[in-house]
Amino acid sequence: MNVSTPDNALPESENKSQDQRQRYPVICIDGPSGAGKGTVTWRLAQALGYQLLDSGALYRIVGLKAFEAGLIKPGADVECEIDGLKLLKLTQSLEIDFIPNNESGRVDILVNGEAVGEKVRNETVGGYASQVAVFPEVRTALLKLQQDMATRSGLVADGRDMGTVVFPNADVKVFLTASAKARAERRVAQLLNAGQEADFEAIFTTIKARDARDENRTTAPSKPAEDALLLDSSVLDADTVYHQVKKHCQERGVFFDY
Ligand code: DC
Repeated sequence: MNVSTPDNALPESENKSQDQRQRYPVICIDGPSGAGKGTVTWRLAQALGYQLLDSGALYRIVGLKAFEAGLIKPGADVECEIDGLKLLKLTQSLEIDFIPNNESGRVDILVNGEAVGEKVRNETVGGYASQVAVFPEVRTALLKLQQDMATRSGLVADGRDMGTVVFPNADVKVFLTASAKARAERRVAQLLNAGQEADFEAIFTTIKARDARDENRTTAPSKPAEDALLLDSSVLDADTVYHQVKKHCQERGVFFDY
C-alpha cells in the first residue's frame, strides 16, 4: 500500500523506529466519531501549515474496498466473518492520495487514481471501517505509512490510536470525546439540515455499538494516551475546544503565527 500527499517528494527514511523517523512536530487528536475531531484537526493544520492525517479515512477506504470485493456483507453493522488474508492483500494493493481541498475544508481522497469523495464518509462505510479496523494485519499494514507522514512536515493526526500506538512520542496528544447521546443528537441535526431523514434511536444504537467495538478490540483500542489532554465536547462548543487545544499546543512548545 502506498499513500501520497502533496509533500511526499521529500526524502523518506526507511526502516527506522517511529522515534527516529519523527522529525517534525506531531499533534494527535483522538476520540470517537462525532466528537468534533475533524473540525479542530482542520483548523490546527491550517493555522500551523501542517499536513493533516485523517486516519479514519484509511480504515474507511479499506472497509469500502473490502465491501466492493465481497469480503463484507452489505449493511453497516451486520457482523460477518472476514477473510483476514484476503483483507491484508487488498489493503496492501491500495494506492491512496490525499489532496487538501481549501474550498470544502476537507481532504479529497483518490484510491488507485479514482476519487472516492463522499463515498467513504457515510454511516454504512463507517461501519465497514470499524469492522476491518479490528484486524491487526490491517492495522500493521497502515502503521508505517501513517508514521511516514510525520517525516515530511508537521502533522495533525486524527484517529483513535494516534497518541497511543502510531505516534507515542507526539508533541501534543488530545482525546476529544462527547457523550453518545450528544453525538447522536448532532448527527440527527446534520441529517435533518441536509434534508435527509434521521431516526434518533437507530443512530444512538449504532454509535454505542461502534464505540464498543472500537474500545474493546484487542489491537490498538480507542482510548486516551496517558499523557493526553481530555476534552468533552458535550459541554464545550467547537470554538472553545479549538482554543483549549491551541493553548495546550502552545504550552507544549508548538507555536502559532496567528
Ligand atoms: O474517525 P472515523 O469515523 O472516520 O473512523 C471510522 C472507523 O475507523 C472507526 O469506527 C474505527 C476506525 N479507526 C480506527 O480503528 N483507528 C483509527 N486511527 C481511525 C479510525
